[in-house]
Amino acid sequence: MTLSQDVRFLGTMAQPLGHAARVNTARAFRGRWRQYRFWTGAEITDYDPIDPAHLAQPHEAYRTLHAGGRVQYNPKLGLWILSRLPDVRAGARAAETLSSSDGVTRLRMAGPLLVTMDGKRHNEMRRHVLPAFTKAALESWQALIDDLAVKLVGEVLDNPGCDVMQRLAIPMPMLLIAHMLGIPDGDIDDFRRWSAAAVRAADVDMSRRGMTSLKSSIGGIRDIYRYFRQQFAIGGLKGSDTVLGKLLSENASGSINDDELFFFAMLLLIAGNETTTNLLGGMFDVFAEHPEKFDALRADHSLIPKVVEEQLRFSSPVQGLYRTARTDYPVGPVTIPAGARVLLSLGAANRDPQVFDEPDEFRVDRNPTEHLAFGFGAHLCLGAQLTRMEARAVLRELGTRVRRIEVIGETQWSANSTLRGPVRMNVRLTPSVAAG
Ligand code: HEM
Repeated sequence: MTLSQDVRFLGTMAQPLGHAARVNTARAFRGRWRQYRFWTGAEITDYDPIDPAHLAQPHEAYRTLHAGGRVQYNPKLGLWILSRLPDVRAGARAAETLSSSDGVTRLRMAGPLLVTMDGKRHNEMRRHVLPAFTKAALESWQALIDDLAVKLVGEVLDNPGCDVMQRLAIPMPMLLIAHMLGIPDGDIDDFRRWSAAAVRAADVDMSRRGMTSLKSSIGGIRDIYRYFRQQFAIGGLKGSDTVLGKLLSENASGSINDDELFFFAMLLLIAGNETTTNLLGGMFDVFAEHPEKFDALRADHSLIPKVVEEQLRFSSPVQGLYRTARTDYPVGPVTIPAGARVLLSLGAANRDPQVFDEPDEFRVDRNPTEHLAFGFGAHLCLGAQLTRMEARAVLRELGTRVRRIEVIGETQWSANSTLRGPVRMNVRLTPSVAAG
């Protein structure tokens, strides 16, 4: 990176990092103060989403949350927790009161990212990027998605005992997004490495481990920044049919600046990769554990769209979203005070026993269309349809070419409280007789 690029990168990152340092330090003090002086009216809990015991068994923790009050408060963290589906949905819808602009993960870190914008600015930016996410724009990626599914399922079939995360669940969304962003094939390996580091920004916290992870994440972001600045400078993407090509044409009219464009590319990487990886990994996990459910899908491919919705509910690849209350926010008899940090637990909402019958059971024909895996309201996921296309394509391939899915050895799960999924899962696929 040249000196002037370095200076520019620091300028671009200074605002979000400065903000993070200020508000997180202030929060640490405020949290302690609250612990001793403030009776909240909510039920007190020691639930902490990054507690290793809860990370290992989040669903047990959700059952405990559901057995308690509608609003729970962890005084040590200064955190208010909503876990019932109607409350989480209402919280996601209340974007004017429950703001995203302090960041939507545990560490308060904001930047010019669509997902951490509020109000008018968010509406305008979302309008600018929508052309890349229309039904027609997304369907133009169908052939590529189908090709990837054929190729990657084939690779897993050909390599019994391989790690399905490395062979399929990680490369599938990564390669798709790289193509959507217009990354040439020759640069994809570098891009994949930088992205893997950069996406860790989604789950950093103020612990020593969190800070080490933040450092490597900033390194990845810097490499991607340098790459995109070079691409923007040579104008290679302009007018192309890629997502960035479309946005660069917008950029020419001055409605999005270069930094916003870079942050949008970053958002697609952060929002679209590990989430989809977690969903795909979850499918292998479920079908290995319940061969009879896989048999049902093989026998009736019309179940595929329903199975994808059930998998989204069951896995909740994004386990929770954080918000900050701008004004008092009432939930039933409790008022969450202005300034409070609020956790909207999507993972808990998607297992709400008052909404889903036997929520911890995976049912191939449940079709839980009210799940909140993609959020709700103003920030509803822009990539939802793309994800569905990917998951359906992989299931079609599995349902046609595979008779049995087996996991060999122990699956390793991520130690990430926001993005949950398998990180290593060795599988053996038995080909169906017809596929031979
Ligand atoms: C299983 C896959 C996915 C899941 C579970 C998921 C989940 C979510 C959730 C929960 C939100 C709402 C965030 C909030 O309210 O603060 C969101 C927003 C978003 N997602 Fe996804 N996502 C997935 C895949 C994707 C993909 C593939 C892309 C794009 C390639 C994408 C792009 C976005 C964008 C741009 C936003 C921000 C929308 C806004 O703030 O207006 N997502 N996603």
